[in-house]
Amino acid sequence: MLELKNVTICYKDRPTVKQFHMALKQGEIASLVGESGSGKTTVIRAVLGLLAGGGKITEGDILFEGKSLLKNTPDQWRKLRGSDISMIFQDSGAMLNPTRKIGRVFVEYIRTHEDIPKRDAWNKGVAMLERMRLPSGETIMNSYPFQLSGGMRQRVGIAMAMTFQPKLLLADEPTSALDVTTQAQIVRQMMELREEYGTSIILVTHNLGVAAYMSDFIAVMKNGEISDSGTREYILNESRSGYTQTLLDAVPSLGGARYA
Ligand SMILES: Nc1ncnc2c1ncn2[C@@H]1O[C@H](COP(=O)(O)OP(=O)(O)O)[C@@H](O)[C@H]1O
Ligand SMILES: [Mg+2]
Repeated sequence: MLELKNVTICYKDRPTVKQFHMALKQGEIASLVGESGSGKTTVIRAVLGLLAGGGKITEGDILFEGKSLLKNTPDQWRKLRGSDISMIFQDSGAMLNPTRKIGRVFVEYIRTHEDIPKRDAWNKGVAMLERMRLPSGETIMNSYPFQLSGGMRQRVGIAMAMTFQPKLLLADEPTSALDVTTQAQIVRQMMELREEYGTSIILVTHNLGVAAYMSDFIAVMKNGEISDSGTREYILNESRSGYTQTLLDAVPSLGGARYA
C-alpha cells in the first residue's frame, strides 16, 4: 500500500535522508528506529507532504496505493491528510490549542473533512474518544488540554487521527513523552487499531524495545541512511550489525524482563 523507493531528501543542498527504501502492506506495522537527528521525522513528514524548512525530495518516489504522492496537487494533499493518511505526534497536547477546549478543536477538525452539522461532529468526536477508552467522552470534549494527563492527551490525538479510519497512520515518537506504564497502554492501543481497522502504521521511535514489541518490520537509521533493516525476528535475533546491537543493549528492562 505504501512504497518509498530510494528516496533522497534535502534541506538546502545537503542530502539529509539518502536512498531510503521501504515497502508496507495493508495492516503491517513498520518502525523507524535511530538516534535523534538520524532523519526519522523527515521520512514520515515526506510521506505526508509536510516537509518543513524548504525540505525537498530530490530523488526517488513515494507510492501510495500504486500512485505517486509526489505529483499530488495541494487540493489532493488536503483530501488525503486526515482521511487516508493521518499522523500523531510526540505530544498531542502541543498540537492542541491550549486556550481552546478539546471539543471545539475536534469538531472543527471533523468538519474540515466532512460536511456535517456541529452537533453530529460533536457526537462523532465523543464516540471516537470513548472508543479510545477515554472514560467520559463528553467530559473530555469539555476539557482544556492542560486538564488532561499526557496519556489522555495522547489518546485524544489518536482518536482524532483515527476519526476517518485512515489506511495509514504515521506516529512520530507517540509514547516518548509518557511514563513507562502509560507507554505500554498506548502501544497496545495502537496495535488494536491494526486488529480492528486493518490500519498500517509507521512508528518512529528511538526505543528499539517499543519497535520490536510492535512491528513486523524494522528499519534502523543512522545519519540519514538505513543502516540495518528486516523483520522483527531478524533484527532481534539474527542481525550482525554492531549498531543494532548497541541499540538493543540500550533497551531498558521492565521488572527484570526486557521490553523487546
Ligand atoms: N526544518 C528543517 N530545516 C533544516 N534542517 C532540518 C529540518 N528538520 C530537520 N532537519 C535536519 O535533518 C536532520 C534529521 O532530522 P530529523 O528528521 O528531525 O531526525 P529525527 O527525527 O531522527 O530526530 C537533522 O540533522 C536536522 O537538523
Ligand atoms: Mg524526530
